[in-house]
Amino acid sequence: MTSATTDHDTTGQAGSADAVPATYPPEGAFIATANAGAALYDRAEADRLEFWAEQAGQLHWDQPWTQVLDWSDAPVAKWFADGKLNVAYNCVDRHVLDGHGDQIAIHWEGEPGDSRDITYNDLLAEVSRAANYLTELGLEAGDRVAIYMPMVPEAIVSMLACARLGLTHSVVFAGFSPTALRQRVDDASARLIITTDGQWRRGMAAPLKAAVDEALGGEPSSVEHVLVVRRTNIDVPWTDGRDLWWHDTVTNADADHQAQAFDAEHPLFILYTSGTTGKPKGILHTSGGYLTQAAYTHHNVFDHKAGQDVYWCTADIGWVTGHSYIVYGPLANRATQVVYEGTPNSPDEHRHFDIIEKYGVTIYYTAPTLVRTFMKWGREIPDAHDLSTLRLLGSVGEPINPEAWRWYRDVIGGNRTPIVDTWWQTETGAIMISPLPGVTATKPGAAMAALPGISAKIVDDAGAELDHGASGLLVLDQPWPSMLRGIWGDMDRFRETYWDRFANDGWYFAGDGAKFDTDGALWVLGRVDDVMNVSGHRISTAEVESALVGHTDVAEAAVVGATDATTGQAIVAFVIRTANAAHSGDTLTAELIAAVSQEISPIARPREIHIVPELPKTRSGKIMRRLLRDVAEGRELGDTSTLVDPQVFEAIARG
Ligand code: WT7
Repeated sequence: MTSATTDHDTTGQAGSADAVPATYPPEGAFIATANAGAALYDRAEADRLEFWAEQAGQLHWDQPWTQVLDWSDAPVAKWFADGKLNVAYNCVDRHVLDGHGDQIAIHWEGEPGDSRDITYNDLLAEVSRAANYLTELGLEAGDRVAIYMPMVPEAIVSMLACARLGLTHSVVFAGFSPTALRQRVDDASARLIITTDGQWRRGMAAPLKAAVDEALGGEPSSVEHVLVVRRTNIDVPWTDGRDLWWHDTVTNADADHQAQAFDAEHPLFILYTSGTTGKPKGILHTSGGYLTQAAYTHHNVFDHKAGQDVYWCTADIGWVTGHSYIVYGPLANRATQVVYEGTPNSPDEHRHFDIIEKYGVTIYYTAPTLVRTFMKWGREIPDAHDLSTLRLLGSVGEPINPEAWRWYRDVIGGNRTPIVDTWWQTETGAIMISPLPGVTATKPGAAMAALPGISAKIVDDAGAELDHGASGLLVLDQPWPSMLRGIWGDMDRFRETYWDRFANDGWYFAGDGAKFDTDGALWVLGRVDDVMNVSGHRISTAEVESALVGHTDVAEAAVVGATDATTGQAIVAFVIRTANAAHSGDTLTAELIAAVSQEISPIARPREIHIVPELPKTRSGKIMRRLLRDVAEGRELGDTSTLVDPQVFEAIARG
């Protein structure tokens, strides 16, 4: 790759008034109290396994381990294998026994305006009741339980109750269809589904239990019971004998429960994620190593201070971010956190900022797509709020373009807060690449460096390490504690997907493109299937998008590589204009082509730019590039069923 787009800001702060800093070093006051200092890298470097043993030592183990890592059965790792612990005990009981039972664990903010504060004492009682009742139902360690719930406290209680009993949970995002639910339930042979009668969506009660009935209709399934939390009070279909109300059962169960220890490698959860083929992959995570790295990263990357911070991760528990950074990491670290049931624009676009003010949120972790949405709505909205409690911002899920990064820091963070851009995956279980907020001088848009204890390389197709400045494939060349232990029921696919590509080296292939810039900062460029090849030049969709979004008239952009007879691939862009954009039509298109040429290189000029009202997004907020490629290549639209709003996209296709 010839251009140095992502390095465009290395000219520094000197000069004109509108020059922006190239890097953002941590400030003295932050460094002084930071959980992690530079020494953390040295300790990990000196003895990686001893370093992880030290991290695992932060947890409560009923039986200590004798071997940190057993890699003899690679690529299936065993971490702390002969140790025993109870994950829920570590997330709840431990804090109560240490005298923090009255501390608030969860400030729950419900969608129609109701809220609940849940202390660690409350959480222990609820998790214990649920564990007692699940035992009464005959569930035994190793059984699978599907959890299909909105962001209500009982969802977290259910996950912890499963963990407490050694039941393997499979959380299915409550926005998924009955078909998707059934597929996941069948794949894992779940014996129980926990759900709610309905869920609130923009002030309206929408059925959810009905979707479970639909999923379970037809062929007999492995499901014996459906446990239903009453949330919206809507009518639900009922199957006597199979269906059970939470308030008739769990609520009446004994609030005392003695947790048993399980092997460190006991399966904790399965979480389905999409791969390159149609069938979702059930990513399997186990207990000791997973909890170790979830807690370690939450402590060091977010600089979390128990009893002081008010932490808020805006993810849904249906995704891995919710597992690791709402449930396991924060609770292991005795966090006080906000859990929000609703959407950012319900009842209006002030919702997140109202919540930050209401609870005095100090750490806020969200996705770039939301940051760009806030940008689109305009800074007047956050500016109307006192956000001064915020002291750290996090980003996850996709590359964050430098413009969004700077806006996030300036407008939300008051030009004060460090930003941690955290790269990881469902498969990695926890954060792998990120700045340390008290150590790293961050560059807007860069994930910066592998965390202490983690090793990443950027290589070419043949596995040769690349020079700084060159784009290549991101690989993880050393096992890590929270790594996936397989794909449920399909270990061949596990090997093929992640390990066959660099089988000789024994590296994990992440599926992402990345580069170290000439200063050695690591940039994740996006999935390799989203990296385009134009006339033999490799160009990241993220880089072009960043250039487009850099134009003041553009709120959001998505770029795909479309087959082109001359150049191999050609770049096709879809952009949403800002509310008060100055230009439109051909004028804007011409400006954007010029901007991309200037920002990256003339080879990165889009062949076409479509100005559109919305982008096709999945319910998890990911842009469906596949559909954009269909439009760009003039094909009939593929499956639009996973989109939030298929009609919006069909309008784009027509336009
Ligand atoms: C893919 C994993 C990690 C939890 C949420 C997504 C992309 C994730 C970043 C980041 C650039 C990122 C990668 C990765 N991704 N974080 N900070 N910078 N890209 O989990 O659904 O398993 O997706 O998300 O492409 O491979 P996921």
